[in-house]
Amino acid sequence: MSQGNNLYPQELTLTFGEVSINLDVPEGVWNPTPHGIHLGNMILDLEFKSDDVLELGSGCGNHTILIAQKKPKKLTVTEINRPILDNTRHNLKKNQIDLPVEYVVADWTHINKGPFDVLITNPPFAKSGKRYYRYFIDTLINDAHKLVKSGGRLIFIQSSMADKNRSISLMNEWGMKVRIVGETKGPFRDYYFEDKLFMENIEKFPGAYEKKGDQFIETLTVFEAVIP
Ligand SMILES: C[S@@+](CC[C@H](N)C(=O)[O-])C[C@H]1O[C@@H](n2cnc3c(N)ncnc32)[C@H](O)[C@@H]1O
Repeated sequence: MSQGNNLYPQELTLTFGEVSINLDVPEGVWNPTPHGIHLGNMILDLEFKSDDVLELGSGCGNHTILIAQKKPKKLTVTEINRPILDNTRHNLKKNQIDLPVEYVVADWTHINKGPFDVLITNPPFAKSGKRYYRYFIDTLINDAHKLVKSGGRLIFIQSSMADKNRSISLMNEWGMKVRIVGETKGPFRDYYFEDKLFMENIEKFPGAYEKKGDQFIETLTVFEAVIP
């Protein structure tokens, strides 16, 4: 069992503000990381009432549960395969979510549905499996106009190591109105250091990380962009 790929099995309880959720994560499903915790905390402050919401890459359902508790009009979630979606569904049931949820197997933005009022996600980055690590972030921004209605919102989290300014520029080029919902800082995950190419890439632009003594610190940013 490798912990390096962040796909190991565990049972855990996560606390967001006054909300605690219990999750069963089987082998092969992404374990919540500080990204997931930060986006979860930001979801507490966001409104989804009467929105038709799409979540890409629901994983163990950590964010799905928090969004569902906000009573959107409708919630559609996607994953790359059925077993991961079954785990999302399992954890929703475990946390007594009774909102009807549509589960769709889809390869990232290739979902033949919508447009939605809100698209929310924690996109793959460090473990994207792509030579171009930003692939999922860029395609998310570039395809948002197909998936989200005019006036609707794109909400996502990214690390400073994915180049925050590049995301802001790309969203501005698409005419989106961008705001930062919230930022937090934290130490690198151990598996960052195991990926030589990843570590080389983050040296290529300023602001990717800070050093405090021996510690490498990343900043996690949640964006909310309104589609023109
Ligand atoms: C960073 S994890 C986020 C999971 C969960 N939302 C969380 O925050 O813990 C990214 C998720 O995207 C899924 N994913 C990876 N490639 C995908 C693809 N091509 N299409 C859809 N989902 C994908 C992964 O299975 C994973 O659950």
